[in-house]
Amino acid sequence: MRYQLKQIYCRPWTLSGLSLKLIESHYENNYGGALRRLNAITEQLESLDFAKTPGYVINGLKREELVALNSTLLHELYFASMGGEGRVTKAMSEALARDFGSVQRWRTEFSAMGYALGGGSGWVLLSWMPRDGRLINQYATEHSQAIAGGVPLLALDMYEHAYHIDFGANATAYVDTFLRNVDWQAVEGRYEDASKVAQPRPLVQEEFGDLPGVSVEEVKEMLDAGKPVQIIDARPRHSMSRQQDIMDGATWRDPDLVQEWSGELSKSDPVVVFCVYGFHVGCKNAIMLREAGFDAKYMKGGHSAWKAIGGAIKPIAEQSQENEV
Ligand SMILES: [Fe+2]
Repeated sequence: MRYQLKQIYCRPWTLSGLSLKLIESHYENNYGGALRRLNAITEQLESLDFAKTPGYVINGLKREELVALNSTLLHELYFASMGGEGRVTKAMSEALARDFGSVQRWRTEFSAMGYALGGGSGWVLLSWMPRDGRLINQYATEHSQAIAGGVPLLALDMYEHAYHIDFGANATAYVDTFLRNVDWQAVEGRYEDASKVAQPRPLVQEEFGDLPGVSVEEVKEMLDAGKPVQIIDARPRHSMSRQQDIMDGATWRDPDLVQEWSGELSKSDPVVVFCVYGFHVGCKNAIMLREAGFDAKYMKGGHSAWKAIGGAIKPIAEQSQENEV
C-alpha cells in the first residue's frame, strides 16, 4: 500500500506567533520526510520474504515502520491541532474539568510536560482512553509510545525542528504560543468521535446469564470499610493442593459440598464466593446459594484477580488450622 499525504489542516497564515517559514519547513521536511520514509519502508516490507529474512532485519524494519507511521499520524494531528484562538469550548471545558479537576489544572499539567521536554524531544498528547472513558495527558517519545487503544485529540510537537527557527532554545515561549493557537472546536469534534469508540469487550459468560458479580475492587472496599460480608473461597479441592495462599478474610469451603456448609452462613449478610479465575465453580456456587435464599454474588476474576490487585493474602496453612481443610 501507499500512504497518502494529508493537506496541511490549519491555515498557516492565520497562526499567531508562528512564522510561515517554521510551519512550511516543519510540514515539508519533517511531516513529508516521515511520510516518504514510511512509504519506502512499506515498499521494502512488502517485497520481503519473511521466512528467509534474519530477525534483526525484520526487527529494524518493523521498528522503523512504527516510528515513521506514528510520526506521520502525529504530525497530521499537530497541524490539525492549531488554527484556532486557544479558547477552550464549553464541551471540552466540561470534559477537562471532569478528568483533570479543572481546565487550569489540565493546562498547567500539559504545559509543564511541554516545558519539561525543552532541550529533549517527544510529543505531548491529550488522548482519550476508551478502556476507562477518560482523558489523559501523555508523552509519546520516539514517536512510538502512544497509549495502546488511546485516541490522541491534541498533539504538541516538542522536537526542536518544531520551534527552533522561531524560538531558538526558548521552548517555554513555544509551548505558550502553541496553546494560544489551539483550535478547540476541532479538538471537540475529535473528542466527540473518540468518545463513541466502544470500550474493550468485557468477558461474557452466557451460561450464567445475569448472575450478579462483584469486582475485586468492590470487595476490597467492603472489607476496608468494615462492612459485614461472608467471603467464601470455593476453589476446588484438587486445585487447593497446588495453592500456597488464601485471601485474607476468606474461608475455604469445598465447592462440591455446598449443601453441607451453606447452613452455617447467615442469610442477613451478603455472601461473596469465588474460585480460581472466576469461571464456572464460583458462579455455580453463587447460583446454588442464591437459590437457597442467600444474598450471594460471585467475585469476578476469583483468587487470581484478588492477587492481581495486591489484595491481602495469607499462607494457606493458617487457614487450614482454622478450618481443618
Ligand atoms: Fe515535528
